[in-house]
This record gives sequence, C-alpha cells and structure tokens, in this order.
Amino acid sequence: MDTEPQFFETNATPGVVGQPLSRVDGWAKVTGQAKYSAEYNRLPGLVHAVLKTSDVAKGRVVSIDASAAQRQPGVLGIFTHENLPKLARSPNSPEEKAALNSPMSFFPMQSDRIEYAGQPVAIVVADTLERAQYAASLLKVTISPEAPVASYLDPKATRFVPKVVKGVPGVTKRGEAQAAFASAPVQLTATYHHATNHHNPMEPGATIAHWEAADRLTVYDTTQAITWTQKTLSQMLGLKIEQVHVISKFLGGGFGCKAWVWPHVALAPLVARAVGRPVKLVLTRPQMFTGMGHREDQEQTLRLGATREGKLLALVHEKTSTTSPWDDYAESNHKILDMLYALPAFESTYHLAHANVMTSTSTRAPGEMPGSFAIECSMDDLAAQLNLDPIQVRLLNHADKDPATGHPWSSKSLKQCYQRGAELFGWNKRNPKAGQTREGRMLVGWGMATASYPVHSGKGNARVRLYADGRAVVQAGATDLGTGTYTINTQVAADALGIAPENVRFELGDSNLPTTTVSGGSMAAGTVSSSVYLAAQDVWRQLIKVAVADKKSPLYRAKPADVVMEKGRLQLKADPGKGEAFGELMKRAGLGDVEGSAIGRYGSNYEESLATSEQAPEHAMHAFGAHFCEVHVDPELGTVRVTRWVSVVAGGRILNPKTARSQVMGGSIFGIGAALMEQTVRDSNLARYTNADLAGYHVPVNADIPNMTVEFIDEHDPYVNAMGAKGIGEISVVGVTAAVSNAVFHATGRRLRSLPMTPDKVL
Ligand code: MOS
Repeated sequence: MDTEPQFFETNATPGVVGQPLSRVDGWAKVTGQAKYSAEYNRLPGLVHAVLKTSDVAKGRVVSIDASAAQRQPGVLGIFTHENLPKLARSPNSPEEKAALNSPMSFFPMQSDRIEYAGQPVAIVVADTLERAQYAASLLKVTISPEAPVASYLDPKATRFVPKVVKGVPGVTKRGEAQAAFASAPVQLTATYHHATNHHNPMEPGATIAHWEAADRLTVYDTTQAITWTQKTLSQMLGLKIEQVHVISKFLGGGFGCKAWVWPHVALAPLVARAVGRPVKLVLTRPQMFTGMGHREDQEQTLRLGATREGKLLALVHEKTSTTSPWDDYAESNHKILDMLYALPAFESTYHLAHANVMTSTSTRAPGEMPGSFAIECSMDDLAAQLNLDPIQVRLLNHADKDPATGHPWSSKSLKQCYQRGAELFGWNKRNPKAGQTREGRMLVGWGMATASYPVHSGKGNARVRLYADGRAVVQAGATDLGTGTYTINTQVAADALGIAPENVRFELGDSNLPTTTVSGGSMAAGTVSSSVYLAAQDVWRQLIKVAVADKKSPLYRAKPADVVMEKGRLQLKADPGKGEAFGELMKRAGLGDVEGSAIGRYGSNYEESLATSEQAPEHAMHAFGAHFCEVHVDPELGTVRVTRWVSVVAGGRILNPKTARSQVMGGSIFGIGAALMEQTVRDSNLARYTNADLAGYHVPVNADIPNMTVEFIDEHDPYVNAMGAKGIGEISVVGVTAAVSNAVFHATGRRLRSLPMTPDKVL
C-alpha cells in the first residue's frame, strides 16, 4: 500500500473536507431513528436484567434470601455468587487483567468478598424491567461488614511507590532535578488536590446480549471500542473471536468510561445464556458511579526551580492517589510535565494507596488533565512572583524540541495559539496586578493556560466501494461518540472519491466491518480518516489500470503514474482535457462497482511507514493550544462564574470546523465542570459515594457557560498521518482547570489549588 502523504496535492481543489458540514447523523438523532444500544427492543423474547449492589464497601456476603423475589411473577432467574455461571476466564489477577484487556483485576460475584460499595452482589432477570426491579428490591442481602479504607487520605491507608504504573516505572528521572531545584535561585513549591470525578455521559452503560446459537453471540453494547469488546468478551466467555458480534451504532458520550468491558458487559451474556433469552442490562444513573470507573482522587506536589529571569531549571513532581485493592493504577500525569516546557531536569514519583473503591480508569485526557492543572498554575505563580506576564513566562520557556526525547516536533504552532488567543481575548488590556478589577460588586479576573495532547499511535482498516452510478459505501469498524466520526469520514470519502457527500454512506459501529482503532486517546479521527482516504486511492489505482488498457478510453496507453483524479474524473496530469468520468469508464467496462481497502496509520505508526533505510525520521507529535478565561467572583458569596472563554487549538488539518469547534467546547466545558463543581464525595468512614447521581454531582448546564470562542490554527503536518490531522478530543480539556484557577487568582489575589473551587474554598 502506497502511504506517501499525497493528500494535499490530490485534494488541491476545494472540496468538503475543511467545510463546516452539519452532522450527517443529526437528522437520525433528532427524529429518534438513531438506535442506541439499549433500544434494540424488537429482539424476540427480550427480557431484562437488574443489578443488586452492595451498600457496604468491604465485607462478606453472609446470605442472600431470594425466596420472596423468586415468587414474583415474571422472574426468570436470580443469580448470586453461589449460582452465577462461571466465566471461561475472569480478570482476577493483574496478569489476567492484562491478557483480557480488562479495566480491573477483579470480577464481582466470584466469591462472597465485597471490596467496594456498589459492587454487584446479585442479578435478577425478569420479563419486564419493572418486575426485575421489584424482585431485586425484595432480595434480602446480609453482609458482614469490615472497616473499609476510603482513600489515600484515610489514616488506615498504606502509601507506596508502585514498581510499575500504567507501563512506566513509579519513578521517572531526566537529569538531576532534586539538585537543580535545591540550587535554583527561584523556588516554588505547591500542592494541588483533585476530587474524584465521574465521566457522566448522557447515555449510561447498556448491554443487550443475544445468543443467536449456542456458539454465536450478538452484543449491542455502549462501547467506544468494538474490537476490544469483541476480543475481551470472546475470551471471557470461551468463544472464538468470530463467534462474538458487537454492535455500537450510536453513543451518547463516553469520555473514556466506555472503552472497556466492565462487569455488566460480561454479566449480560452470562445470564442470557442461563435463561435462554436475549437480556438487556442498563446501568442506572447511580450505578454509573460504581460501574464504569472514574478519575481518581489525587494530590500532586510540584517543586519548580527557575532563574530570576523566569527560565525553568528543574521540576520535581510527586503524585499520590487512590487505587483499588487489586490494581496499581494511576493516570500518567508525568508525561505532560516532561514535555510542555524547555526543562533541563525532571523527576516524577507516583505514590498509591489501595482503598475500597473500584479501579479508576481513562477519563478524558487521563494524566494530561490533572498534570496540566499543577504545571499551569505553577507557571502562573512563577509569572506573578517575577512580575512577568503569564504568556511571557510561557514564551520564555517555549520548548523548541521535545525536552523528553530531544526529537523535533512534527509540527507545533503554540506561539500562534498564544498570539491569536490573546488577540481574540483582548489580553493586552489585562491589569498586571491581581485583585484590582471590578465590575459592579464582582471581582473580575483573566487567566490563561497552555494545552497539549500527544498524537498516540493508531492503526486501522477501511473499505470503500464505489458504484458506477456515483454512489459509494465506505466502511470501518469505528465508533462515533457523538463527536462526528460519521461526518468527517463522509467528507473525506467524498473528496477522495470526487463525489458529493450525500452520495456517500459511511458505516461504522459493527465488528463485522474492517477492524480499526478505539474511539479513545484522540486517535479515531486521524486513524479512520487516513484509512478511508487511502482506501479511495486503492479504488483509483484499480480504475486507472482499467482505463489505460481500454482502447475506447481517452487514457488508453497512458502511463498510470501520469493519470490523476479530479472531482471524479480520471485525466492526464499534464493534459487535463484528456480523460473521462469514472462512471463512463466503469459502465463501458461492465464494472458495477470497484472496491478498495487500505490500512490507515496514525502517529509514529505512520512515520514508520514513511521511513526509508537512509532516513528514519523521528518526531515528537502533539497537538497544542491555549485557553483564555474570564471569571466574575462574588466576594460575598464566593461563587465563580466563567463569563468569557477563548480556546485556540493547533490540531493539524481540521477536517470539519463545526464538529471540531463542538469538540473543543465540550472539552472546555468538561474542564470548567471539574474546575468549579464536579466532585464525587466518598464518605471517609463508609467509603461510599454520598452524591452518586446528577442531583448531587453537579455538571455545568447552559446557564453556567458563556458563549465560547473557538479558533484553529491551520497546520500541515506530513508526519502524523496521510490526512495531516491530529486528534482534538482530549486537548480541549487540558489546561482548562488551570486557566480558571489563574483567572480566580487574578480576580482575588488568592491561589486556589484544590478542585473543584467551590464557594467554601473561594471565601
Ligand atoms: Mo478517552 S479517556 O481516551 O476515551
């Protein structure tokens, strides 16, 4: 497969890529035709499962009296640890967790042990949801409780430095950071706290398991990663991969929690097999707080050494966080700290404490989000201490190459992001002194922060079928979180095939389609779009072969390399008048359709495919950006309101500025939520969440968010993929909490280092 980065040349003529196309799936969504995983209700004999969960965070199940529940009409099965069918493989050790790609080294109902509040202890199946719910309410569960550990802050907790955390050593070092800090003329030390956060997608976790035969399972699941779900489930259930069919056509958000096979996803097929009916299992909103992971509660201490001019000399980072009883898991904060600024020496240490909570998991920009809070607040402190403008101190420490690896950047337009953001925001009118600006009785503050997110390595297949009548079906086993996967790939296919977007049908969300990457790690747009583009090139290669061999074609006997495609016409590069539309060629050749396929590569995968023996390019690949925030702080009530917002992002080629703008707005709102209101509170004695619903867990609503300005810096990056596009799903949340804290500091003169910045902390 030819993977030369020829996209910009081939698509020199304006097309629909880069245009603000509205979502192609929007109509289906607003009319209710879009079928979400829980909505396959016409399956013959579909019945309902309900989870009964533990109120106790640690202990033993003494007994479960199911006699009253069993007598209820419609009840088809009640399963506890005593009668639940066994999994072929269950992720009950770190080795099995890794082998099964499970998010936890634990599966509930394998014994009488209770290790976290909300852990399933029973599952009830009945013919209607209401009957299942009622029967579950009649279960008498007796648990012998033990004293749980609530978090790393619990005096009972034992803190330790893990040998390995998320694939890296618990301690990472570059240079002699401790010594460099000790001798630095300017030293800043600060500790930052983060509450537990939950993803809270609108659509909860939901699985329908349908055994179409004893060895053939179809699963409709709310997953960001159908191929991962397919593989994990097949291993857990003792099936071959091809015996499990996973469908996920539409998602109502995910933010990382839907990337994995959580217990309910495997429980549904287990009980469906036992009762011999298709089973639907939907998590309730409270169960979403103990069913699909969370972002861990954590604190970070940052020691920053700098020259008196404000140049960084050293950064020493320590993070302490809560993990589950079984896993040494922490999101990797150190990565962004190691690369964001020109930094000669860096050291990072992870500390963990096992507590009675499920394993935390990937949550939008896992690591970069909390890591950026610490570094971006500290940079603001450094600026304030040295009387420098916050942008100035960042420019002073601009990393011209990747400090972590020494590699050049594949592209970096951070300076342009600062400049354009400052312009749009009116930054030059900022009063350099904090606590000086008022509007009525409100204190007004302006803050900014840098954002960055890596281009991870993705890889995936796509298939393109072009019909002689000018329509095309384009397929990849991707998922659309609601962010625009359907739309941007329709655009890419339309341009690459030279047809109108309304003549493209892009299909995703089915494990029978070509295997591609997870909608996670901001990899889907870059990976899937390049595979679609290259699969279209495969179609043209085949058609050009037909044309040059066809006596009736104007291209007869032309050299294939001299033929190009322009808006659906094959023509000579040097003599564009000589050529014909693909439809004419195909009709004459009796070709109803032509099918092409290709592998799309993203990140270092793509760069490897470009490398030759003489030339082994190695680039550090990241998207960059800057956020600007204005807050009004009520000095009497302590409330903080974000009143203006500007984000400027450089994410390579922007495939669709409308869906991209929504991504950046969504991420910024996600971050504003974490900054000002989002926290799940675990009771320090009971280790139970006290606010596990959307009444107690506050997320921003429209009234909390001002009109937001989002702009993009256009970048042509030939190293990230064939499209030159970088992912932007996660960079949008990076730096946001710091921008808000920096604005609150500017408004009040007080630095808040504990999230969320609720009124009690502001006053
Ligand atoms: Mo995202 S946390 O990679 O789904």
